[in-house]
Amino acid sequence: MYEILKSAHSGWRYIVLVLLVLAFVRAMAGWLGKQPYTEGNRKLNVFALISAHIQLVFGLLLYFIGSWFSVDSSQALGRYWKMEHIGMMIFAIVLITVGNARSKRGDDPLARHRAVALYFGLALVLIFAAIIAMTKADPSRTFFGVS
Ligand code: HEM
Repeated sequence: MYEILKSAHSGWRYIVLVLLVLAFVRAMAGWLGKQPYTEGNRKLNVFALISAHIQLVFGLLLYFIGSWFSVDSSQALGRYWKMEHIGMMIFAIVLITVGNARSKRGDDPLARHRAVALYFGLALVLIFAAIIAMTKADPSRTFFGVS
């Protein structure tokens, strides 16, 4: 059970990253290019949001089934899995949730694109930083690996 969830969480990251990058790029193009906020934009943002929430569910299950909350955090590896990964990733998912919620406010299409570009962009930076930190704390893992 744990191994299946771990593979799902490991592979699902690519879905989250691809959708987030696409949503971010389209939001930047919409914001800077002064484009209307389309139904296509809205759907892409919602798909990115849903993919991040699914990843959160996989992650929470791994965290509690694998008892990562009780590992020794005096070493970098334990600290990473007990606190840093969950902390950075949940913060990133909160940013995605807020960005998507803000994109629904008001009628100004540029403000809607801007909200997605800023919040999703920050979330992407955090997620990349967390995955890079993972490869530093545990050199057996790689940025583009799947386990
Ligand atoms: C966008 C959000 C997230 C991304 C992109 C992400 C990404 C990853 C990656 C790349 C790994 C390493 C998998 C491997 O070595 O193949 C991993 C492992 C793990 N993640 Fe996440 N994660 C996210 C959110 C979360 C959250 C919110 C939690 C906890 C609540 C969590 C808990 C874990 C745990 C416990 C592992 C270790 C699994 C193991 O090696 O046994 N993740 N995650």
